[in-house]
Amino acid sequence: MSLQKSSFLSSSQLSNSEVDQLFDRTRLFKEEFEKKGTLNHLIKTSDPVVALVFAEPSTRTRLSFQMACYRLGLKTITLDNPSVASLSKGETLSDTLRNVAAMMPDAMVTRFNEDSEAEATIANLGCPIINGGVGTKEHPTQALSDAYTILEHRGQVSGEKVLIVGDVLHSRVANSNLILLQKMGAEIAYCAPEEFIPQQELWKGVKSFSTLEEGVRWATVIMGLRVQRERHSQRGLGLSIAEYRERYRVGGDQLEIFDPKGILLHPGPVIRGVEFSDYVLNEPRCKVLDQVSAGVFVRAALVSFVLGLEVQKA
Ligand code: CP
Repeated sequence: MSLQKSSFLSSSQLSNSEVDQLFDRTRLFKEEFEKKGTLNHLIKTSDPVVALVFAEPSTRTRLSFQMACYRLGLKTITLDNPSVASLSKGETLSDTLRNVAAMMPDAMVTRFNEDSEAEATIANLGCPIINGGVGTKEHPTQALSDAYTILEHRGQVSGEKVLIVGDVLHSRVANSNLILLQKMGAEIAYCAPEEFIPQQELWKGVKSFSTLEEGVRWATVIMGLRVQRERHSQRGLGLSIAEYRERYRVGGDQLEIFDPKGILLHPGPVIRGVEFSDYVLNEPRCKVLDQVSAGVFVRAALVSFVLGLEVQKA
């Protein structure tokens, strides 16, 4: 496994057989937790300390890494409020990362906005870095959680038709999912307003639908995305939220024409009524909270590989 004592920065790093190994361990952790309510007994050492350095807001990613570490009996240190960290006194993010690395954690999970200096810095910190989301580029542990959720509910990823809806242009989740899910044999398409059509090379040739109805009829998995206002230019979105909702919100009408065995995903946070209606969020095909639960065990498996922890047979 290439992850041992190494950084995990992109979905492109993992081979299919490594994803299989990671998901085997995820399954073991999830099943064992469901039986015993702990994972402590599977891990020989509980000495390692993982630093969580989140310079952008997060609920799911930060807490699920922390939960994953606690379940494994590991310790964490956290910087998650830049306004009370020395970043607020003028220290650069790169220097903050160097200082946390100087405390010698066994691994560091990072989240930050586009910052080329910080990206260059994490390549040379001497401690394994796990990418917890960087700007509009990648969020590979979310993609792993999503792929695992598809596998759990659909039985396979290969052959699935995944429709990504909404603000694709600004979505690091969409990029990491495109790389990972295509590698695993899924077909990807998107449906987005003109302003949010992805421009990156990565998306060249990816199927797109101009209407949500066509896309929903095609898909077996619908993945909604948050409209990321904080990443939009001053120009903003060219259509009003009411128009966006009318054309791109997934609601009851779409569920009527969607595959009865299909599933709906969203990485969160969901802006209710804009990306998915309340009705959709309450529908049994909607697996948004299962993605969150999967995220704990996927991240526990990932951390265990990165730290090279010895996992005992259950
Ligand atoms: N999916 C996700 O990254 O959510 P958070 O921003 O809450 O971590």
